[in-house]
Amino acid sequence: HPPVSQMEETSLLRRANCRSKGGASGFKVAILGAAGGIGQPLALLMKMNPLVSVLHLYDVVNAPGVTADISHMNTGAVVRGFLGQPQLEDALAGMDLVVIPAGVPRKPGMTRDDLFNINAGIVKTLCEGIVKCCPKAVVNLISNPVNSTVPIAAEVFKKAGTYDSKRLLGVTMLDVVRANTFVAEVLGIDPRDVNVPVVGGHAGVTILPLLSQVNPPCSFTPEEISYLTDRIQNGGTEVVEAKAGAGSATLSMAYAAAKFADACLQGLRGDAGVVECSFVASQVTELPFFASKVRLGRCGVEEVLPLGPLNEFERARLEKAKKELAVSIQKGVSFIRK
Ligand code: NAD
Ligand code: LMR
Repeated sequence: HPPVSQMEETSLLRRANCRSKGGASGFKVAILGAAGGIGQPLALLMKMNPLVSVLHLYDVVNAPGVTADISHMNTGAVVRGFLGQPQLEDALAGMDLVVIPAGVPRKPGMTRDDLFNINAGIVKTLCEGIVKCCPKAVVNLISNPVNSTVPIAAEVFKKAGTYDSKRLLGVTMLDVVRANTFVAEVLGIDPRDVNVPVVGGHAGVTILPLLSQVNPPCSFTPEEISYLTDRIQNGGTEVVEAKAGAGSATLSMAYAAAKFADACLQGLRGDAGVVECSFVASQVTELPFFASKVRLGRCGVEEVLPLGPLNEFERARLEKAKKELAVSIQKGVSFIRK
């Protein structure tokens, strides 16, 4: 643990206990990979979330520094840092929500699948910790390739007998955040007033924005549909190329992850009508996992919502998406079953 005096330790514990006993507000949240490009701004945003009473920041590097820094913010959450594998179990014990942005990001020229070899092992190790220390926690998985890491996590949990498909959610919120922004630009309206469902998965052609279901209802020319679909599908690559070797989306991702985590916490609190898109175990298609709108509740995913009516363009794109998704899902499953 980072050096914390006995007095500070007692005070932290007292504040944490007060809050968790204090009623409806006050969830315990861990971020795994908290010192990274996503992890740091995400830690900042979660420290500002009034639903969070305890915030655990775990990483294999720099966790004490990030923790010291964030802990000086005069918001409610009590922050604790955890460094390296020997402290993983303490980081996870008793958590309600675990958010995982641990892993390597892309460089120009790479696909998300090129990250599989490194990130699959990282996700496996972290999920084994969850099995041991907080098997009932809701898990938000950000590490790429999400289309494979979610199946990996599911297989780790199944192997241990702790799998609850309602509690494992792949984070595809950034696709929705981007879609809302780009669609609002085309329509010339405020992005906060736009909601675009994005289904399928989180890589290239598997990212399928349903532009026929945009809220508020609107219509696009074929050129606009082609431009928007391509831009949304390649949003990640746009950032990777702009950063020119310095990583992938971190700030917009932290924003999206914080929004998604907040929705999960609202669901856990029992709020009604919390609906977001996420890559989850699903019967919406013949694939075992698929991203679509889900209703969040006290147990995590309360309901996976149907896709709704698709137009011809979307139906054709869906077939393409499913082909690639099936391969990525199987790759994740085989990594654990092999
Ligand atoms: P980064 O390299 O800046 O940070 C990753 C952090 O993970 C580092 O601090 C590193 O020390 C830590 N880490 C590595 N191994 C670990 C382990 N075993 N346990 C705990 N922490 C460990 O990368 P980043 O930009 O923050 O991206 C992280 C991941 O998120 C990448 O895989 C990236 O592709 C993915 N990502 C996903 C989305 C999405 O929409 N789902 C969006 C952006 C990035
Ligand atoms: C994104 O969509 O920004 C992330 O998946 C990171 C990446 O590699 O594109």
